Amino acid sequence: MNSARRTFAKALAAVDVVIEVTDARLPEASSNPMIEELRRFRNRPCLKLLNKADLADPDATRAWMAYYNARLGVLAVAISAKHPADVGRIPALAQQLAPHRSGAEKPLRMIFAGIPNVGKSTLMNALLKRRVAKVGDEPAVTKSQQTLDLGPDMTLTDTPGLMWPKIEHDADGFMLAASHAIGRNAVIDEEVAMNLGTILLARYPAFIKARYGVDMVGLDGEGLLEQVARKRGCMRKGGGLDLEKAANVFLTDYRAGALGRISLETPESRQRMLAAVALEGASL
Ligand code: G4P
Repeated sequence: MNSARRTFAKALAAVDVVIEVTDARLPEASSNPMIEELRRFRNRPCLKLLNKADLADPDATRAWMAYYNARLGVLAVAISAKHPADVGRIPALAQQLAPHRSGAEKPLRMIFAGIPNVGKSTLMNALLKRRVAKVGDEPAVTKSQQTLDLGPDMTLTDTPGLMWPKIEHDADGFMLAASHAIGRNAVIDEEVAMNLGTILLARYPAFIKARYGVDMVGLDGEGLLEQVARKRGCMRKGGGLDLEKAANVFLTDYRAGALGRISLETPESRQRMLAAVALEGASL
């Protein structure tokens, strides 16, 4: 058992509800399957928060909620950690999952879990109405475990140890990198931007056209990056397109939500991706 797994398994024994935070734009790619596995093993209910819903495609988010709510012991809700009204719903939702825990004698004990950059610190700060952990856009800033009182009859423990995503498929790695959940140096921005471009050209061409005014005919991820470079004047000193700079422009736009409300995967697209991977594996 690795250290993160061991610490999480141990912490689970002392809590009533797991609050799993994921990124609503890529809910499966941004969840660590260990959380679901261990909380099932320990028979703990899970409040699954699809955070950053303000940035995600509402139709895709609805589909994901239906998908997760079909799971036993899971209550999935879409929220934005930046909207106080959404955050205010969390304690009551968690309480619903463990009605037997109430009052100072038997406080409701919750644990926050999730991979870096899905918004755990932002949520903790909003819930506790004070700054308790460093919030940053660089992954892996939240490092130590702490248990805090949330009123007289509720406690909140943050993720013990670092919980990295489990990247089983290249597609997940690219989605995570585009959404900044894996480090800046871990992957090449140009490649990430091209992959993001491919997804967006297929699913949100109108957003691309509206933002960059590019001619979409026959465009692929690489072609899109070249167009963005032209439109935004990303040129190298000695001449030629600066695709690295264009990738930065494009990724920053996506991360800030400037392109529109986008989801990188849906339950259907995920199923298709997994089926394609299985087919590829079978033909090897
Ligand atoms: P973590 O603890 O899980 O690692 O994540 P953290 O709270 O540090 O959040 C990572 C980034 O995501 C932060 O951006 C944070 O503001 C942003 N974020 C968190 N929740 C939401 C949300 O619901 N909606 C949106 N749009 N963004 C969210 P940052 O750029 O570092 O900080 P800031 O300048 O946005 O404050």
